[in-house]
Amino acid sequence: MRLNLIAAISILSTLASGLGLPGLAPRSLVIHPETCVMNKEGFLGTSFPDPPCGVSRGNGKDTVTALLCFVVPPCNGQCTISFTDALTATGSRRLQLFTLDRCPTTGGDTWGSKPFRDKHIGTFLVSIPGPAAVVEDFGLTFPCPKTVTKYGFELQPVWDNDSVTWDNSKGGLIITCD
Ligand SMILES: *[C@@H]1O[C@H](CO)[C@@H](O)[C@H](O)[C@H]1NC(C)=O
Repeated sequence: MRLNLIAAISILSTLASGLGLPGLAPRSLVIHPETCVMNKEGFLGTSFPDPPCGVSRGNGKDTVTALLCFVVPPCNGQCTISFTDALTATGSRRLQLFTLDRCPTTGGDTWGSKPFRDKHIGTFLVSIPGPAAVVEDFGLTFPCPKTVTKYGFELQPVWDNDSVTWDNSKGGLIITCD
């Protein structure tokens, strides 16, 4: 009887996880990007993988943007995009965040060939250490996905002089599920 009960519970939980039932998904997660690909104005065919990841612009030119891919597991809560713990920040210390139509691929995405940039969803003002201030929020919070979902984002510098770097595995752009 006891064995049967355990077997039944095991079958039920296998079924439930296969269906991605929200009740079994975790409620608290911090997700770091799987990929950071930098692309530089003037380098149409070259991508620059991290570390460190970063964006920059000097005297109004030589723009470097960062393309990021998040693989978000099912999570039973609200997902919030934030930026934290930059390594260095000079100039405007601002980052504009855009959604991309797909995830970037290491080596495959360059200034001349990158995912389509969709919406400007927010702007951060970086301070070190700790979380960046949110200067603009046009959609930094959304319901977390019920199945594993990939999200592509691009961070770009703001104004003529701006340089921000971060360690992708410790900080930078993160998604938290609460
Ligand atoms: C950017 O930096 C250059 C040289 O370092 C300086 O001449 C220029 O005034 C700066 N621009 C802004 C908007 O701060």
